Amino acid sequence: MNISKTLKLNNGREIPVVGLGTYKSRRGEVEDAVKIAVDVGYRHFDCAWLYGNEAEVGKALEETISKGKVKREDLFITSKLWNNFHAKKKVVPMLRETLANLRLDYVDLYLIHWPFAFKETASLWPINEGEGAYSDIDYLETWQGMEECVNLGLAKSIGVSNFNAHQIERLLKNCEIKPVCNQVEVNPNLNQKKLIQFCKQHDIVVVGYCPLGRSEYAGTPGFPDPTIFDPKVAEIAQKYKKTPAQVVLNYLVSLGISVIPKSVTKSRIIENIDIFDFKFDPEDVAYLDSCNKNQRVCPLSEFDTHKYYSFHTEY
Ligand SMILES: NC(=O)c1ccc[n+]([C@@H]2O[C@H](COP(=O)([O-])OP(=O)(O)OC[C@H]3O[C@@H](n4cnc5c(N)ncnc54)[C@H](OP(=O)(O)O)[C@@H]3O)[C@@H](O)[C@H]2O)c1
Repeated sequence: MNISKTLKLNNGREIPVVGLGTYKSRRGEVEDAVKIAVDVGYRHFDCAWLYGNEAEVGKALEETISKGKVKREDLFITSKLWNNFHAKKKVVPMLRETLANLRLDYVDLYLIHWPFAFKETASLWPINEGEGAYSDIDYLETWQGMEECVNLGLAKSIGVSNFNAHQIERLLKNCEIKPVCNQVEVNPNLNQKKLIQFCKQHDIVVVGYCPLGRSEYAGTPGFPDPTIFDPKVAEIAQKYKKTPAQVVLNYLVSLGISVIPKSVTKSRIIENIDIFDFKFDPEDVAYLDSCNKNQRVCPLSEFDTHKYYSFHTEY
């Protein structure tokens, strides 16, 4: 079994380096995926209210714990607050809803999913509603609700997602509890070295999403080619007797971050955590470094006129 290494958070807790992503893991598939993942050594699960499948994840977790396969305290469960619920008074109730779905008393990490807010009355993904769907609630207000989650014992740690360096700096100057993490897109096409460096300086762990470049979208016009399909990466993989996905994940972990590849396929779930037994020669690292094109799988450019949109700056 490959139990993942951990990274230390700034509050002394630990986050397993490899976690299982669950976005777009369909109901009917995600339950098995979580059970398989626990069996093969995953302890970190990345969830979100928006994904609509936390109840299935919770069912799998409850069953696994009740069968004695793992203890609750050995798991690291993340969830995220969605954009329509950034009002301070909404944060605790939304986490309580997530906890009921996950069948848990607490999450290990609760994140603000994006820095920008939508009106509570807008749709969850208001791409056709224009700026009328935007809310100007400041993420500093939202953070006060996040802090309340810790004070009530509903979240062991809190953090942010998709925040740029300026937004993190502003948050650090105006918080009582420091964020432990910034979850952002990281893959060889977007290696985020500057943001990772910035976060390290502030003792904030980066969790990298879309580590495999969300390969099922490959070939969509305008969508960055996932590096796992690069013939040169296939050659590197052959050299180490690993797969392209393992090459990419090992490279990302070597940047000092946590990664949360999503899969509902047993062989891939096993493959994606079996990444700790090889080390690259410098020329292979140099090639993977050269793949950086600053192209995003998740730009959310539909919302780029929002005052808190995060990707106008370099990092
Ligand atoms: N904070 C945020 O705003 C945010 C945004 C996006 C994602 N996330 C989180 O990050 C997680 C990962 O990102 P993602 O799901 O977008 O993309 P990803 O993990 O980069 O890619 C997932 C895709 O890769 C396939 N795959 C998995 N392992 C593979 C392997 N070894 N070889 C080839 N293909 C493989 C999966 O297929 P199968 O499942 O069919 O095996 C799925 O189609 C999400 O699930 C979510 O938890 C967070």
